[in-house]
Amino acid sequence: QMAGRSIEAAADALTLHQHVLYHQSKLYPGLEKVLDAISLASKIISGKVRTMGLSGVVGKTGEKNVQGEEVNILDELSNTVMIKRILDSGEVCAVVTEEEEEFATPSTDLPGRRGYVVSIDPLDGSSNIDCNVPIGTIFGIFPRTSAGDGKGTLADCLQPGRNLIGAGYVIYGPSTMMVYASAEGTFGFTLDPSVGDYLLTHRNMMIPNVCKNFSVNEGNTAYFYPGDLALVAWLKEEDKETSRPLGARYVGSLISDFHRNLLYGGLFFYPHDKKSKKTPNGKLRLLYECAPVSYIAKMSGGKGSTGAMDVLDVVPTDIHQRVPIYVGNKDWVERAESFVRGDYV
Ligand code: AHG
Ligand code: MN
Ligand code: MN
Repeated sequence: QMAGRSIEAAADALTLHQHVLYHQSKLYPGLEKVLDAISLASKIISGKVRTMGLSGVVGKTGEKNVQGEEVNILDELSNTVMIKRILDSGEVCAVVTEEEEEFATPSTDLPGRRGYVVSIDPLDGSSNIDCNVPIGTIFGIFPRTSAGDGKGTLADCLQPGRNLIGAGYVIYGPSTMMVYASAEGTFGFTLDPSVGDYLLTHRNMMIPNVCKNFSVNEGNTAYFYPGDLALVAWLKEEDKETSRPLGARYVGSLISDFHRNLLYGGLFFYPHDKKSKKTPNGKLRLLYECAPVSYIAKMSGGKGSTGAMDVLDVVPTDIHQRVPIYVGNKDWVERAESFVRGDYV
């Protein structure tokens, strides 16, 4: 079965639940129930996204979140549904979510082991919701570090990406897909609405050896540090040997840019820049954006870097900590590091 080719007879395709049960549950008891919860919540979100103009999830709530960003109705719905389903699984002691200042914890009278921590970006690409461009959900799963099976602690949440036991994303695009990575590799599942489940369509996904595109918001170059300006110019130069110039592709939903680069090869970066004092370390958040996608990249033969170090080695000091990120083909990420290392402490 060639990597990435979809399986003709969906009838015999494994479900996400079966995949986790077969591959991980001996090592991580109850993990399949965490994925069931995220999967169920994502099906609810997918149903709303599919009929967005009719299901009342377009537009804003009028509130701002802890990031100071305006909260979309779909952000809020996705956040509420994800937190509830994940905590009700009984297998999770803490949920770190973009939309909550503090991490959320379960009531302890629920049966369950509460052995895992989940970091989640319930709705990634919010600026693309109203214009029908693909958006997603991003998640990471850590083992709890505190003793016992009670509510999780802040220390349980502040773990480096190196500790992840699984990470994935849902992309609400022309098809709704769940991509899930673990030590077993990266697998893609396509939601079949008539079955109501995610069926395996992409086995052992690996980033191809070619790097087709670079993805960066060039609207910010006026605020870029010299290394990033030099990198962007270099990517655009003509040089047959290194297949430059690369194409430019930037969707504005991390998950869409990342998914395309996973399948076609590519280098995505969101550097730190001089634009906003609020985000001296770039815009993207470590625990629920950069660490999960860097973990998936690593399990697919790629890499995620802050420009100065592997994203997976960054130990968070705050649950909403931001880091610069360069993620995609390993050799291209390392080229990018050589341009920007001078700009990063
Ligand atoms: P979110 O909608 O969860 O806040 O994430 C948006 C992020 C990410 O999806 C995307 O790569 C990036 O914001 C785009 O930022 P710019 O619009 O500044 O390029
Ligand atoms: Mn996001
Ligand atoms: Mn978000």
